[in-house]
Amino acid sequence: MQDRHILLIICGGIAAYKSLELIRCLRKDGAEVKAVLTAAGEKFVTPLSVSALTGNPINNALLDHEAEADFGHIELARWAELIVVAPATADFLSIMAQGQAPDLASAVLLAATCPVMCAPAMNVHMWQKPATQRNLAALVSDGVEMIGPEEGEMACGDFGPGRMCEPDVILQAICARSGVPATGLTAIVTAGPTRESIDPVRYLTNRSSGKQGIAIAAALAARGIRTKLILGPTEIVPPAHLQTISVTSAAEMHTAVHEALPADLFVACAAVADWRLAVPHEHKMKKRGREETFTLELHRNPDILASVAKLKGNRPRLVVGFAAETENLIGNARHKLASKACDWIVANDVGAASGTFGGAHNTVTILTDQKTEEWPTMTKQELARTLAGRIQSTLTDGRDQDQLDG
Ligand code: CTP
Repeated sequence: MQDRHILLIICGGIAAYKSLELIRCLRKDGAEVKAVLTAAGEKFVTPLSVSALTGNPINNALLDHEAEADFGHIELARWAELIVVAPATADFLSIMAQGQAPDLASAVLLAATCPVMCAPAMNVHMWQKPATQRNLAALVSDGVEMIGPEEGEMACGDFGPGRMCEPDVILQAICARSGVPATGLTAIVTAGPTRESIDPVRYLTNRSSGKQGIAIAAALAARGIRTKLILGPTEIVPPAHLQTISVTSAAEMHTAVHEALPADLFVACAAVADWRLAVPHEHKMKKRGREETFTLELHRNPDILASVAKLKGNRPRLVVGFAAETENLIGNARHKLASKACDWIVANDVGAASGTFGGAHNTVTILTDQKTEEWPTMTKQELARTLAGRIQSTLTDGRDQDQLDG
């Protein structure tokens, strides 16, 4: 995204707060960002926050005589290489679909000749209303690209499609639209928990949300690395453009990973269940008599990471594992680096106090044969982008793990 001119239009919706993170992501990727706030948008995020994050003065009034002396709306439309409307409200989509220009945001859109993308955000019933769907169809046929919306719980308590996509999903769509050149590199990423069936109503699993692994797969894809995400059962919906293979058990994940090979890179981020029942019970297991304890015989699952890292012919050039620990983080992680024969281990504390499982942040230490590098606490998205950057430079510049901290 280096030096790409992105104009962000922020409309008035509760999701506007996510647009601040989107600006940060875009700038971190090297883009230059200008923003226009609609009058309703200003009720949700302040011009000061937006201009501080973009590093550019905020644009909000069509009839601002200073800006309009230079034909401000035309200048902005010319400046933009891509316009992203996020959040795009039902009202604003309607204005766009009808080609109206009552304010600066809509006037810029009318004057623009660059591609336009919208990340809709609204209540599920507003989204499903025939009028909204007509407006969307008109915009799509005019060449406007829609990003999402996602399905989920809304601020108003309703459930369904209408939630604005997360900033990393929007970023990925922007990168794809901006023609991030394909690197020719390929990657496989595992994410989420696995679920091991006990009987038709019960299973064994763990607390992994899949958030970190999905973010890593998205960040790799955003860099032009052809990425396959092998995802265990999770509530989080991965970005639509990401090639995702959904699996349930460790055995299925193991098969899916080996079928997805060859690849230049393998990142094992999944929290794979270590144990399974040899044969799950066909019927619901019943309590018998008055027994107070109960024993399940469990069999070891295949170690997917080790099975890939120890391949002779088809081994990816870079194999990155994770270590989820609640004690002796570095000691356990170093042991895993050696026993699983991977090139890097990303060690993270997943104890209850860390808030890592299911949370938004992660604090990791990266280990290689020679080095131990502590990274500061970051959001899972930031960590994904930083890790993806390291991975890409390692794979393309031939910089190996010795130069991890270079
Ligand atoms: N892993 C895997 N297959 C398994 C178990 C783990 O691919 N059956 C991978 C994970 O995706 C992670 C790394 O191995 O990249 C370490 O996983 P972790 O859960 O931290 O450790 P385990 O190997 O399960 O060991 P332990 O439970 O003893 O900590």
